[in-house]
Amino acid sequence: MRFDKSIVEIIEKRTSRRTYVPKLLNEDVRKRVSKLINVKELRTPFSDKAGKCRFGLISMPEFDPKEKKKLGTYGIIKGAQEFIVGAVEKSDYMKEHFGYLMEGIILAATDMELGTCWLGGFFNRTLFSEKISASSNEILPAISPIGYSDKRRPKEVIIRQFIKADNRHQWDRLFYEEDFFTPLSSDLNEGIITMLKMVQKGPSSGNQQPWRIIKERERNVYHFYSKRSEGIYQSFYPLDIGIATCHWDLTSHELGIKGEWEIDPPNIPGSENLDYKISWKQK
Ligand SMILES: Cc1cc2nc3c(=O)[nH]c(=O)nc-3n(C[C@H](O)[C@H](O)[C@H](O)COP(=O)(O)O)c2cc1C
Repeated sequence: MRFDKSIVEIIEKRTSRRTYVPKLLNEDVRKRVSKLINVKELRTPFSDKAGKCRFGLISMPEFDPKEKKKLGTYGIIKGAQEFIVGAVEKSDYMKEHFGYLMEGIILAATDMELGTCWLGGFFNRTLFSEKISASSNEILPAISPIGYSDKRRPKEVIIRQFIKADNRHQWDRLFYEEDFFTPLSSDLNEGIITMLKMVQKGPSSGNQQPWRIIKERERNVYHFYSKRSEGIYQSFYPLDIGIATCHWDLTSHELGIKGEWEIDPPNIPGSENLDYKISWKQK
């Protein structure tokens, strides 16, 4: 995936947009978006353990008037005329893989000055599944409107205040060293600090920020874990982890910091209430 601006700048700029100018994408932009949603050749740290993923661009004119009333976005999204809809084959790590790829598309859209908003819960899955001709072996983890965002309307401002969308947990609640009782010291290579900050800045369902990263002592190995909960957001956490690894990976490439991913659960004290996901070893 290619970006015109720096990925750090794009990640810092991206924010969910729920209010749109009711206008279709212009032809040139539409062509670029159609290209960027073609993810056939793209790999993620989860590719080897996940099924195939694909995305489509669905426009409002493709819905008949009855369907338009049943998009199921419950008035949260206003004015959007186009949606990115993705499907992934049922498999281990399907949501992490999907999350990584969809976030790549969202960042590329941000680079093109387009508005987006991850929608994991509030959309009519049956209707959008039909539009993308999903098979019974595929799931639709999320969609996103894509278009020209408009000034945030009061309802959107209230939603953001309710989920504290502009806030993120402090570093010491997200990042650890050696065990999950010791916050990670900030005495680290500047590039790694930037990579951690880009994870911290990521979007997550309900702004839950389930990602936890732990560094091994005296080794540049970082293990990614997910918080566990019984709540309504639990099923979206694997998507959030995919997003976190996407931000980490793209930032490391931009900064020229090499590493490799592997899935090999370590034995870390204090990790009993967390789910291990993946590790990154600096080369
Ligand atoms: C996997 C996922 C699912 C989400 N689902 C919804 C949703 O159903 N409805 C919604 O309004 N926002 C949804 N969001 C957007 C989050 O609320 C938003 O990312 C978070 O509050 C942080 O705000 P920001 O994106 O502006 O940084 C979702 C985000 C993610 C990552």
